[in-house]
Amino acid sequence: MKISVIGAGNVGSLTALRLAQDGAGDILLVDIVKGLAQGKAFDLEDARYPLQNNYRLEGTDDISRIKDSDLIVITAGLARKPGMTREELLNKNAGILKEICLNIKKLAPQSILIEVTNPLDLMTRFVLKATGFSPSRVLGMGVSLDAARFANLIAAELNVPVTDVEAFVIGSHGEGMLPLARVTNIKGVSLEEKLDKGKIEGLVKKTINRGAEIVSLLGSGSAYFAPSAAISDIVQAITKDQKRTIGVSAYLNGEYGIKDVCIGTLCSIGRQGIEKIIEISLQKDESEALLSCAANLKVQYSNITV
Ligand code: NAI
Ligand code: 2OP
Repeated sequence: MKISVIGAGNVGSLTALRLAQDGAGDILLVDIVKGLAQGKAFDLEDARYPLQNNYRLEGTDDISRIKDSDLIVITAGLARKPGMTREELLNKNAGILKEICLNIKKLAPQSILIEVTNPLDLMTRFVLKATGFSPSRVLGMGVSLDAARFANLIAAELNVPVTDVEAFVIGSHGEGMLPLARVTNIKGVSLEEKLDKGKIEGLVKKTINRGAEIVSLLGSGSAYFAPSAAISDIVQAITKDQKRTIGVSAYLNGEYGIKDVCIGTLCSIGRQGIEKIIEISLQKDESEALLSCAANLKVQYSNITV
């Protein structure tokens, strides 16, 4: 498979390395800054010998090289700065993505797109519109990262291996995030049986704030180790046709009573991209929260002026 990663910043370059090491395909790293992707690709290539892995990875500032990509990961754009909300990034990143989408449409019309640039759910919807691709081929990476963070915090609280935790998060990759404690479980036992309400609320809050917490600790830039791991997990599900259930930002057309919004939801992910949207039964408060999140996303989306 030919996999292009657009944006050779923190998330893009580490994603390129992970994908290359996993043998996901031939990796092309692209950045608008002259020399940046090429320089990083040389460095990543030099790592092949100590890693004893003959992966194929190239870097370029020439976007036309994405031609005939099977899979494209979009990480181009600006990252959040301390105190900056994801939503403030909206129009700046929409402008960047518009140009990129025109190229994708022209050069790789059959590709599957994994959108990463923030604000995630809004940019996923924007990419869908700008490319005109089928909704099954445009998915956003956001809530699987949030589920990873929720799982990690739960594992630390309960002193259990993170691999024993199955964490579920839907909603937006932002303030409207909905970590679902009710269905989150530790080897089949609901989190609600393991921890009291106050403790769970604390973990939910921490999960929602995790990205911002990392941004403020870093001082400049945002998280990239867990984000690149979450991207490579989705890529594997596609390249290996795993049909695994993963939370992604997907275009809803009536599911959960929501239409015309990209929002984090559980999906079956395989070689065709989003092969099925898995609608789980929600309790009244969860359903209301999801509907309100979708309504907010619609309002925010209408603020895109690009
Ligand atoms: P970064 O600033 O390290 O890298 C962004 C790269 O995009 C830069 O190298 C820049 O030159 C490049 N770029 C800008 N315009 C471009 C264009 N037209 N074509 C090609 N490349 C272009 O930022 P980082 O940390 O890699 O984050 C990238 C994006 O991903 C940000 O929007 C960030 O908020 C988002 N993000 C989303 C996550 C998620 O869970 N969805 C998690 C982490 C980051
Ligand atoms: C995060 O949650 C910045 O969206 C990114 O870390």
